[in-house]
Amino acid sequence: MLLSSQRNRMIYFDNAATSFPKPPAVISAMCDYMTKTGGNPGRSAHMLSFAAGETVFAARQLLAELFGVSDPMRAVMLFNATDALNLAIQGILRPGDHAVTTSMEHNSTARPLFELQKAGRIEVSVASAGPDGKTAPEQIERLITDKTKLVVVNHVSNVFGTVQPIERIGRVCRKSGAAFLVDAAQSAGCININLERDNIDLLACAGHKGLLGPTGTGALVISDSFDYTKIRPLRFGGTGSLSDRVEQPDFLPDIFESGTLNAAGLAGLAEGLKFIAAYPGGAQAIGRRERELAAGFVESAAEAVRGFRTYTGSVETGTVAFNIDGISSAQLAGRLSEQGIMSRAGLHCAPLAHQTMNTFPAGNVRFSLGCFNTEEEIAIAVKALAAVV
Ligand SMILES: Cc1ncc(COP(=O)(O)O)c(C=O)c1O
Repeated sequence: MLLSSQRNRMIYFDNAATSFPKPPAVISAMCDYMTKTGGNPGRSAHMLSFAAGETVFAARQLLAELFGVSDPMRAVMLFNATDALNLAIQGILRPGDHAVTTSMEHNSTARPLFELQKAGRIEVSVASAGPDGKTAPEQIERLITDKTKLVVVNHVSNVFGTVQPIERIGRVCRKSGAAFLVDAAQSAGCININLERDNIDLLACAGHKGLLGPTGTGALVISDSFDYTKIRPLRFGGTGSLSDRVEQPDFLPDIFESGTLNAAGLAGLAEGLKFIAAYPGGAQAIGRRERELAAGFVESAAEAVRGFRTYTGSVETGTVAFNIDGISSAQLAGRLSEQGIMSRAGLHCAPLAHQTMNTFPAGNVRFSLGCFNTEEEIAIAVKALAAVV
């Protein structure tokens, strides 16, 4: 248990794991839901159930708007990004299919794909990113065969913060007819994404990271043009609709939303999405602010901290991975934590990305900055690192 004085001194640089703090409106909307709304969305014909349904719909609509999707029912509400990636990957791929992915993926993509391969059901090809952490669209194109049904790409590396050229990769997928699934766990809310413009069929996102909602929220957003019946549901059960039948409804979003939703969480997520919409310049401006802070950190740490090393030539987002010569990443993150600075060390659930960037198995320390971090906090962290050395 933390004392409130300790919490006040805390510097949070672990926004890639989950964003913190959340905008105050997120918390009050969740409290309002728990104290006033209370009902189960889409289940019963009473006022509290209707109010809960409206809360969920607001989150759906804001999410669809953020990603340029015209039908809000195509924002399928789930529990995290892993949930969304599993629905798309396991729902689309059939025995004998081939999938293409990259060497910068998080385990939430790699594990479902390799599990299907291990079971002998599909073949997976991995496009290797270059030393800059980028995957060329031509490399993906070379791996696509007539059996390729799905291409999965992590938009922003959760370790190195590198950004993949998704619009150009999407163009390659459009040409081949393979479905294009983007893991936007680290980019949603920090980069302007438009499914139609960027040639994306399916977008998996977490509600609790850049979208500033609470844990237990995530979504699979399906583009207006994608035939959603290509995805088989993974969960079957009660939806509040077609209660006279034992068959799963075949319409969106119910086909993929069996069981009670995290309605309190979605009340919070709606407020996180409103915060982003109201931020001058929106998601792109939030991302710019985070990148400026990260670039400032790298510049001053390179000057002030002996043995400080990063792994990419430039800073593209608010996420930066680094090491200091002679200290393990776990030791370093531990020392920072003792001084109230929260970071993450090790392999960040992304062994493929670390192998690609030659930081496997030692790993590194990751600072992932959010829009509530400040230059003053960066200065304190640089001093703390210099003191550790
Ligand atoms: C790139 C990437 N994909 C997927 C995930 C999984 O997200 P979640 O924890 O919401 O399932 C993460 C989590 O850090 C991530 O960084």
